[in-house]
Amino acid sequence: VAVLFYSPTHNIPLWLRMLRSELPDVPVYAGSEAPTDAIRLAVAWAPPKGYFDRFPNLQAVYSTGAGVEHILAAEPGPNILVGRVIDPGMAEAMSQFCTYHAIRIHRDFDRIARQQRERVWHVPVQPRAADTRIGILGLGMLGRHLAGALRPFGFSVSGWSRSPKSIDGVRCHWGEDGLREILGSCSQIVCLLPLTEQTRNILNAGLFARMQRGAALIHVGRGGQIVMEDLVAALRSGQIGQAVVDVFPGEPLPASSPYWDEPHLVVTPHVASQPDPLTAAHQIAAEYRRLISGDEMTNLIDRQSGY
Ligand SMILES: NC(=O)c1ccc[n+]([C@@H]2O[C@H](COP(=O)([O-])OP(=O)(O)OC[C@H]3O[C@@H](n4cnc5c(N)ncnc54)[C@H](OP(=O)(O)O)[C@@H]3O)[C@@H](O)[C@H]2O)c1
Repeated sequence: VAVLFYSPTHNIPLWLRMLRSELPDVPVYAGSEAPTDAIRLAVAWAPPKGYFDRFPNLQAVYSTGAGVEHILAAEPGPNILVGRVIDPGMAEAMSQFCTYHAIRIHRDFDRIARQQRERVWHVPVQPRAADTRIGILGLGMLGRHLAGALRPFGFSVSGWSRSPKSIDGVRCHWGEDGLREILGSCSQIVCLLPLTEQTRNILNAGLFARMQRGAALIHVGRGGQIVMEDLVAALRSGQIGQAVVDVFPGEPLPASSPYWDEPHLVVTPHVASQPDPLTAAHQIAAEYRRLISGDEMTNLIDRQSGY
């Protein structure tokens, strides 16, 4: 009985070391060397389609991160449970990233930086935080944490989810009507949705047209949710005032991409938040023990809804 780790991008020796230290009595293998019959639990990032077919006794696959669309795209058998790592450090890092950009945009700190380069001493009018309403698309583990992080700065916060929600201090919206309401009422929109059939290409010209003119977009969900050509057009027309994009339809973004130079667009290389291998290994070890003892595993996703 053994555990498998697969990833084309992670630091494999580090992840193996962490998993082995948390599961000292269990063999943990990296992709290519795994004895296929022994594998019961896999921890993976972006496996190729059909990858799990070779493990006849596999029962559960956990994503190394918060998103699972890359696991579902590999099409694990219908009876295989799919889960994800829930790392409080990831939520903190995501809130740091989004709060930093929200404050930078709200206070127009780019302009202050420009002023220094131009040796201009000019004191702009200080905007009131309560007048800036920030809308978070996705009120899951990360979106909720961000809502809580923004509130102490005095921002007005709205959120959008699939099912109705009630969160203290957050104006909650859901469904199609809710999307229209949140887009029309916020001067900054943060996308923290999982990538599913419903959210693929959701950040498109139609959605941008429903945002307030000149509003800002902070996209930290998944690359498959944004139509970059539409974003560039919206930035050039002024419909969107500025954007931060951390996740792209094709990653890594090639050096030849025009997006690096687009005015009013901040490009970051999928760095908003990453799982901590130690926390992940600790959680995976607990899931492994549940699996072996027949207890219900946790942090599983609903394969029907895709998140
Ligand atoms: N850029 C990065 O570095 C980075 C790092 C980590 C994660 N991420 C991305 O962030 C995503 C969100 O993570 P999470 O852990 O917060 O996800 P989560 O806990 O699964 O929450 C997802 C939220 O999105 C809502 N949602 C899903 N489909 C929807 C739809 N069709 N319409 C309206 N709302 C919908 C859900 O609504 P309900 O509450 O009603 O179910 C829920 O509130 C991940 O899937 C990943 O893609 C990015």
